Amino acid sequence: MILSKKLEKALNEQINKEMYSAYLYLSMSAWAESENWRGATHWFATQAKEEVGHAMKIYRYVFERGNRVTLEAIDQPKTEFKNLTDVFTRTLEHEKLVTTSIHELVEMAAQEKDHASSVFLQWFVTEQVEEEANVSEMLAHLERIGDSKQGLYMLDNVLSKRSAG
Ligand code: FEO
Repeated sequence: MILSKKLEKALNEQINKEMYSAYLYLSMSAWAESENWRGATHWFATQAKEEVGHAMKIYRYVFERGNRVTLEAIDQPKTEFKNLTDVFTRTLEHEKLVTTSIHELVEMAAQEKDHASSVFLQWFVTEQVEEEANVSEMLAHLERIGDSKQGLYMLDNVLSKRSAG
């Protein structure tokens, strides 16, 4: 059974939001590389790849349902950041927006009694909990570290250990 036009449109918009997320995190990775934060460079590049994966999951799902994917322009992300706390703070803010957007999709699927979409979207609900938790943890570390150069160096080392997801 194909998706309603409303859900098709909203899922297409979510593909765009996930691609924007990828672009934003790649921009953060580029900033980190220019600042010689090797771990953060890797962490954000990995995050960017995950976001493309999220977009592609929805992309496949829309086609599986017999609907159409229509790609739109991706907004330019911010390119300059103050420090690691700034990038992780912005990451958390952005993930909260994505979580809201996923929850809106869940509500829409429920209203339409589209049970297949409800099940499909549950994966994203769980993923958002994990993403927000990971970023909050990094922010808590950063708060503890403050301006300590040694602490920041150690945290960057931790960021370099992130697996490919
Ligand atoms: Fe795909 Fe980070 O939400």
